[in-house]
Amino acid sequence: MAFEKYSLVGKRALITGAAGLLGMEHAAALLESGATVVLTDIGHGALESAKLKLAKTFDVDRILTAVMDVSSPEAVSDVAADIGRRLGYISILVNNAAIDPKVQGEQGMVESSRLENFPLEQWNLQVAVGLTGAFICSQVFGTEMATQGQGGVILNIASDLSVFSPDQRLYRKPDLPDDMQPVKPVTYSVIKAGLIGLTRYLATYWVGKGIRANALSPGGVYTNQGDEFVQRLSALIPLGRMAGRDEYRAAIQFLCSDAASYMNGQNVVMDGGRSVW
Ligand SMILES: NC(=O)c1ccc[n+]([C@@H]2O[C@H](COP(=O)([O-])OP(=O)(O)OC[C@H]3O[C@@H](n4cnc5c(N)ncnc54)[C@H](O)[C@@H]3O)[C@@H](O)[C@H]2O)c1
Repeated sequence: MAFEKYSLVGKRALITGAAGLLGMEHAAALLESGATVVLTDIGHGALESAKLKLAKTFDVDRILTAVMDVSSPEAVSDVAADIGRRLGYISILVNNAAIDPKVQGEQGMVESSRLENFPLEQWNLQVAVGLTGAFICSQVFGTEMATQGQGGVILNIASDLSVFSPDQRLYRKPDLPDDMQPVKPVTYSVIKAGLIGLTRYLATYWVGKGIRANALSPGGVYTNQGDEFVQRLSALIPLGRMAGRDEYRAAIQFLCSDAASYMNGQNVVMDGGRSVW
C-alpha cells in the first residue's frame, strides 16, 4: 500500500498553540492520519471550542486538551507528566505556538513595531513564546522520546521569513511619515531564523535514538486581509496568491510520518515560490 507509511494510527502527537489558525489545521492533519492529538494552548475556552470543532469531523476519543504555557518550564513538565499518565508518551511534537502581533500603523500614534521604538518587554515576551517555548517543549518531550527508545518527531513551525527578510514595503501606509510606518517586527525574523538553528541542533543531538527534527516554513495564509496588502504580497509570489489555511496539511502529514523517515534537520519552505523569485 503506497500510503501505509503515512499512517499515524497508534501515535500520540502534541501541538502547541493548537487553538490558533494553523494549530487547528495541524491537528486536523494529524487526526486525519489516525493519530491521537493533544491540543495545548494558553486558554481553556479556546481549547474546548477547538476540540468541539474538530470533533465534528474526527473521533472525539482521539482529541485531548491541556492548558500549557510554552514559556513556563513548570507548566510544560506538568503537562508532560499528566499526559504521560493519561495517555502514554508523546512521539510527535509540533512546536507551533507564537505571538504574532498584527502589523497596524495608526495616524498620530508612536509606531512601536519599528526597530527604534520596539519595547524590550515585547522582545522578551515574543522570544519567550516563539523560540524559548520551542526549546522548553523540545527539552521535555524530546528527552522523553530519547529515553523511551522508540524515537519520535519534532516539527518546528517557522515561516518563509526564516529564509528571507520581511519586505517592509508590504505594510506601507501612504498617509504616514517614514518614522511612523508600521513594520513586521524584528522579533519575527529572529525567532523564525532561531527555530531553524534549533531544528538542526535537535536533528543531531540525540544521534542514534531515532528522533527526527525538521522545520516547516509556511508563507502567509489568506484570512481576509485588506485587498491592497493581498495584491502587493501576491505580486511577490510566483503562484500569484497567498496560501489557503489547509494547504499545509499534507506537509504536516508527511513530515510527522514514516513517509519522511529519511528527512532530518531540514527546513521545508512552502511559500508559493516566493523565496526563489
Ligand atoms: N498564519 C500565517 O500566515 C503564518 C505564516 C507563516 C508562519 N506562521 C506560523 O504558524 C504558527 C501558527 O500561526 P497562526 O497563524 O495559527 O497564529 P495564531 O495567532 O492563530 O496562533 C498562535 C497560537 O499560539 C498561542 N499562544 C500564544 N502564546 C502562547 C503561550 N505562551 N503558550 C502556548 N500557546 C501560546 C495563541 O493563544 C494562539 O492560539 C506560528 O508559529 C506562526 O508564526 C503563520
